[in-house]
Amino acid sequence: MPADGIPEGEDMTVHPMWLPDDLADREGAGLRGRSIAITGEGDLFETVRRDAAALGLRLVDVAGADGADVVVEPADAADALGPESFALTRGTDRTVVRYGGASGALYGWFQLLREAVQAQPHRGLGTTRHEPAHELRMLDHWDNVAVHPVMGQVERGYAGGSIFYDDGRLRDDLTRVERYARLLASIGINRVAINNVNVHAREARLLTDDLPGVARLAGVFRGWGIRTHLSVSFAAPLTLGGLGTSDPLDEAVQEWWAETADRVYATIPDFGGFVVKADSEGQPGPFAYGRSHAEGANMLARALAPRGGMVHWRAFVYNHRQDWRDRSTDRARAAYDHFAPLDGHFDDNVVVQVKYGPLDFQAREPVSPVIPAMRATRVALELQVTQEYTGHQLHAVYLAPQWREILDFRPFGDDGPRLAEIVRGGIVAVSNVGDDEFWTGHPLAQANLYAYGRLAWDPSLDPAAILDEWIALTFGMDERVRDGIHSILDESWRTYESYTAPLGVGFMVSPQGHYGPAVDGYEYSPWGTYHFADRDGIGVDRTVATGTGYAGQYPSPWRESYESLETVPDELLLFFHHVPYTHRLHSGSTVVQHIYDTHFAGVEAVEKLPAVWAALEGRMDAALHARVSDRLAEQRRSAVEWRDQINTYFWRKSGIPDERGRTIY
Ligand code: GCU
Repeated sequence: MPADGIPEGEDMTVHPMWLPDDLADREGAGLRGRSIAITGEGDLFETVRRDAAALGLRLVDVAGADGADVVVEPADAADALGPESFALTRGTDRTVVRYGGASGALYGWFQLLREAVQAQPHRGLGTTRHEPAHELRMLDHWDNVAVHPVMGQVERGYAGGSIFYDDGRLRDDLTRVERYARLLASIGINRVAINNVNVHAREARLLTDDLPGVARLAGVFRGWGIRTHLSVSFAAPLTLGGLGTSDPLDEAVQEWWAETADRVYATIPDFGGFVVKADSEGQPGPFAYGRSHAEGANMLARALAPRGGMVHWRAFVYNHRQDWRDRSTDRARAAYDHFAPLDGHFDDNVVVQVKYGPLDFQAREPVSPVIPAMRATRVALELQVTQEYTGHQLHAVYLAPQWREILDFRPFGDDGPRLAEIVRGGIVAVSNVGDDEFWTGHPLAQANLYAYGRLAWDPSLDPAAILDEWIALTFGMDERVRDGIHSILDESWRTYESYTAPLGVGFMVSPQGHYGPAVDGYEYSPWGTYHFADRDGIGVDRTVATGTGYAGQYPSPWRESYESLETVPDELLLFFHHVPYTHRLHSGSTVVQHIYDTHFAGVEAVEKLPAVWAALEGRMDAALHARVSDRLAEQRRSAVEWRDQINTYFWRKSGIPDERGRTIY
């Protein structure tokens, strides 16, 4: 035990995120001391009872429920509520949660807290129904068990080490994981994958030797209605099973997976399933045996199907050893080329997991054409809460507006469904937490995790309203805090876009860590992420007429819209077209002037943030305030660097001066 008397691992300084202990005492919430009667037997009901008691509510006997202030009870069959759904009725002196199943009771409890804390008089009395839009709402952790020599403990993690593992082993003390599970349950997350999609040798063994550890984690998550999944290596029969092959059509391989799955289920009866990154960035896969990805995925799916498990098979498959001289290969095309022909060939318990854009979690990309192309497949949308290409949780970037745009995209045009309606395999995102005191490094990045869960539950929620909820829960009802945070975050994604890679061209980041500008960092690399800037112009010609043909992967009307310079949206111009610097955007500006203007404007916006934040000092936890101040200073430094490198690069390439004569180096 260390000198301060706090037991090892019991880090008392961990920030509570949006569930501080005093929630029930908040002005207006008025929950402390109120009586609550909860009808229902089983672990999740016990969880709700414990949580209510911990927040200071008074548990009363169901028999006396008539007199309780809060009642949690099963809905009638006529209410037709699914197992995770609930209805919340607010009366003058009583609130009633009627649930479809135990998870519905859990989610209803947290909705009740959300509303109470926001003291929402405008919501008034009456009943609201709450049903998740997606059955699968998942977070993928890119955590390594052992510290990876290049990627560290958490791949693309910007918030310290892993909350699960510490240098080669599962942590003994899972108190923090328990807090995390509660936070996730409060935003409706019901699935978690606990290890990196790049499955290194140590992590591969989670599936076998380390099952008891996985079972411990699964036990913690289970208490909060969350099922645990593992990322597995497609080569496991070879590397762990001692077989001579991992060919999916080989019977011994199939048996190995079936037996392995049986052992997992014997230890973890509600195990969620496997996440697989195959034939991608060096990970093994079915291509080595001349098999298709449907053959690979279905083989694993059949091992899991008898126990209700599923396979999340990632569509992030492309040639990462491309020759930059080869203009005929287009990485953006790859996922569609590999997967669209397989539509309808996947088993029911396979979910094909597709990143939102064709490249890689850029601040701006078109929505992936794989999703509308695979209507006969359960496709999941993959988002990235961890800010790999959006500022490493050093920059304040609220991503909910981007996600809403993606979810609202109508791949078949105005009369067709939204993306959120056609992804039948749920929503998945890469997590942004670590063992940092504030969980997410940048305390304001907690809002991204919160918003992710809320949008996965209900993709029609307004990002600003979600932010209101998060602020109210985290900081209380101080209007100045609310307004200050809104003015920092509301436009932050567009601001970030404005001072980084322009007009949808992407990347221009340092290849080492993906932080900070390096305009040509990837230009002569094998990764397939080029901007093709020369003295005359910039952009990637992905048209059918003269380019790589990528635009043709979209259904109408987008294939035509993206194909033509007349109709391509400005923000995606350079993703689809190579144009001269003097090309005029729909906005009226030329490409090069737009680059200068947005980079100056982006920095101007960032320069205003520290004063906004400074005005909130004393209105919140001092350590949190100080952390954000530090990060805003770094964001300013970095934004200036982006502005100057990008503007200088294009001024030197094009020789075209800034119309407004500002300083470019
Ligand atoms: C990106 C990221 C990798 C990650 C990969 C993936 O390329 O940089 O760290 O492994 O995406 O999604 O699999």
